[in-house]
This record gives sequence, C-alpha cells and structure tokens, in this order.
Amino acid sequence: MIIPMHELLKEAKKGKYGVAAPNVFNRETIEACFLAAKELRAPIILDVAGVHGIYECADIARFYERRYPEVPVALNLDHGGPFEDIVNAIRAGFSSVMIDRSQSSFEDNVKETAEIVKIAHACGVSVEAELGHVGQAYEYDKTRDTGLTRPEEAADFLKQTSVDCLAVAVGTSHGVYKGGCKIDFPLLDTLASQIEQPLVLHGGSGSGDDNLRMTIEHGIQKVNLNTDLVMSGLDRIQACYENNLEIKVPTGANMDEFTTKRMNMQQLYLVGAEGYKEKLKHYMKLFKSDGKW
Ligand code: 13P
Repeated sequence: MIIPMHELLKEAKKGKYGVAAPNVFNRETIEACFLAAKELRAPIILDVAGVHGIYECADIARFYERRYPEVPVALNLDHGGPFEDIVNAIRAGFSSVMIDRSQSSFEDNVKETAEIVKIAHACGVSVEAELGHVGQAYEYDKTRDTGLTRPEEAADFLKQTSVDCLAVAVGTSHGVYKGGCKIDFPLLDTLASQIEQPLVLHGGSGSGDDNLRMTIEHGIQKVNLNTDLVMSGLDRIQACYENNLEIKVPTGANMDEFTTKRMNMQQLYLVGAEGYKEKLKHYMKLFKSDGKW
C-alpha cells in the first residue's frame, strides 16, 4: 500500500534501520522495486524525478500497488524543482514530495519549503527538504566541503518549516566518484543528536558498503540510490551484447530441448531490470530493512 513517507521513516528510526529509496523511471524499474520489497519483506520508497514523468510514474506505481497491496511503499518526488512539479506530484497522488532549495539562500530555502509544507500537509503528504547541498561526484573536490550541512542552522530550519524529514550533506555526492568519498561521521553524529526528524542521505551510490552501513548506524533512515542500480542493470545488458544477444529458449515441443535466438528489446529491458533489482536487494539487506513486515 502507498503510505505517507514519514510513517515508513518513523518506523525505520524506531527500529534503527534504513529504507532504500531507489530512483524509478519506467514500468520495469517500478516493478523491480515492488518485487525486491516483496521478496525481502522490506519497506521501500520510490523516488521519482520530475523529468521522468510525474503522472506516468504515479499511475504505474498504483498499478503495482494493486498487484502487491501488502508492500509498504512511499511514492516520493525526488529533488522537486519548479513549484508546479511539486503541486502536480501532490495532485498525482504522491505520498511525499521533496522540495530542493539547497542551492538557494537559507532564507529562501526556509520560505519556499514552508510554503510547500503548508500545501502538502493539508493533503496528508510528507515533505523532505535539503539543508546544505549534496553536489555531483564529478566535481566532488570542489563541492564536498562547501556543501556540508551546518548544524547551527538545522534547528532553526526545522522549526520554521516543519518538514517531515531532512536531507543532510555529510560528504556524499550524486553519481560516480573519481576517487572514494569521505563521510564526516562526527558531523552526522551532531546532526542526528540535534534533529528529531528522520535524516536522508543523497548520493548513496559508490559510497561503499561499510560507509553506508555506518551512516545508518549513525542516524540515517533513508538512502537515495540511482547510479549503482542502473549500472548494475547496464552491466547485465552489456553481458548480453558480449554474447551477441543470443539466448537459449525451449524449442516448444520439448522443454528440455533448447534453440538459440536473438534477444529482442523487451527481453533486454527485463535483463536490465533484473540487474537493478539484485543490486537493490543487496542494499536492502545492507540497510537491515529486510524482514520488517
Ligand atoms: P546516486 O546516483 O549517487 O546513488 O544518487 C541518487 C540520489 O541521491 C537521488 O536523489
């Protein structure tokens, strides 16, 4: 069932585990998320970026919600930009929206976030905001330190906005790092000790299993993941190309007899989705969210 994101995260905080929040963008990735969550009995947050189709993804998510009503799932707008996108996500039935004003001044971030909270809460929709700025991994050297969340701003921000959860910048970045990433655990400890609301880590990919496990131990409840999942899918697709797109299929007459065929596009999509799903399940286990329902 699609439920407000703050309910999932409240449970995660109580149970000291993390919820995987994969970026989804089509039928195959949304189905893969429902299946991974069902197979591991893990809660899940579907993160949809505005460019990937707010109404389209909401409809697909509702289709799989009907098919797998037992799966606890939140449907969240990721990095909500234009005001219209955020309002459209609420209209489309999202159970949570992120408003990302992390590159605006503190005052503008507060003002615009509080405006969205008022609208979203009136509709029973959770809100995620970002304080500090999680940048892009290709410019990690330049943005890592300048973007870190300042603990002295956090209490004021939360008081003035009433957001349900907060994305913090503690040393991760979106995408593929050239080197490794360096997470500021003392900063995360300070933030976690000051902030009652659940905390969100963006840029989960490439951070390393030990680091991610530790971020949860140090107070993160939602981990956003994209690059590692799609790369895992792409690796599987590439392996198919290396095998000249050949697959073995039963002859039909006898299920023990096989013939070789060339894969079609739909089969390739499914192979990609399988790679995405396996990596997602790896992270669900790492975050200890399996077996939670
Ligand atoms: P990664 O691609 O680094 O996993 O980041 C995803 C993300 O944070 C989406 O909001």
